Amino acid sequence: MSQQYGQMLGAPRPFVKWAGGKRQLLSVLHENLPESFGAYYEPFLGGGALLFHILEGRSGQRCGISDLNSDLILAYVTIRDKVGELVRSLKSHEKRYHADPKSYYYSVRDGSPRSGIEKTSRLLFLNRTCFNGLYRVNSRGKFNVPLGRYTNPNIVNEENLRAVSGVLGAGRVSIKCRDFGAVLSDAKKGDLVYFDPPYQPVSATASFTSYTSKSFTMEDLARLAELCCKLDSKGCKVLLSNALGRQGAYEPTAQLTLTLKRGLGTMNC
Ligand SMILES: C[S@@+](CC[C@H](N)C(=O)[O-])C[C@H]1O[C@@H](n2cnc3c(N)ncnc32)[C@H](O)[C@@H]1O
Repeated sequence: MSQQYGQMLGAPRPFVKWAGGKRQLLSVLHENLPESFGAYYEPFLGGGALLFHILEGRSGQRCGISDLNSDLILAYVTIRDKVGELVRSLKSHEKRYHADPKSYYYSVRDGSPRSGIEKTSRLLFLNRTCFNGLYRVNSRGKFNVPLGRYTNPNIVNEENLRAVSGVLGAGRVSIKCRDFGAVLSDAKKGDLVYFDPPYQPVSATASFTSYTSKSFTMEDLARLAELCCKLDSKGCKVLLSNALGRQGAYEPTAQLTLTLKRGLGTMNC
């Protein structure tokens, strides 16, 4: 089924712009993938740049994907299960946005829809129309990014949404909302786990860790270092991007030192 969708609709790509998204680094990540592995786990999923890259090259790949952001995970599940209704809802946003972009954007941003379809369509709409495609919430979990400057944003990317739905619905991808630590009980010897945690701030004032109302802390980093050791000793293959800031804390199977442009303006999602 997924291959059928792929052939008809083109390869699925990330459906959200995400701070720290790895589309621009795919070739480096690709070079560092092991030749063979069992299941693929991505516990800091975000836009899933590497996930979609892997699924493109390996149809039928078993995957376990997860993230702590419940709105994001709801979007993956809704796209998998209800893509037709979602596209209809997005088309309605698109129409109303074009009538009066500014007031419509803020009315949607201030709203709190109840249904999974409306919540996901709100997330995708805001992601396409907000400043810099940034997802950021305040300490109460409320989305707080201002309107972006676009003349004609692509609010309904129906072809990609249907391609994503096909590949996620093929029955080999498990989707969960959970803390990264839970991957330890799932991953087995020979499986690949790719960690792409939130950046550590370059300074006390330069922090961007607001993917959820709960910040990613130094304690989380220490937990991650320990987790990498445990997975390594289980015989899992571990791939890591973004600095851990604790030199020599562990030796993952393949360690990447990536230089990222931190400015959100340079994101290429
Ligand atoms: C740098 S982004 C991942 C970007 C992704 N690789 C991409 O290509 O778009 C980090 C992700 O970690 C998630 N996150 C933050 N704290 C987490 C936690 N404790 N457990 C799991 N996910 C977490 C955030 O919601 C965010 O989506």
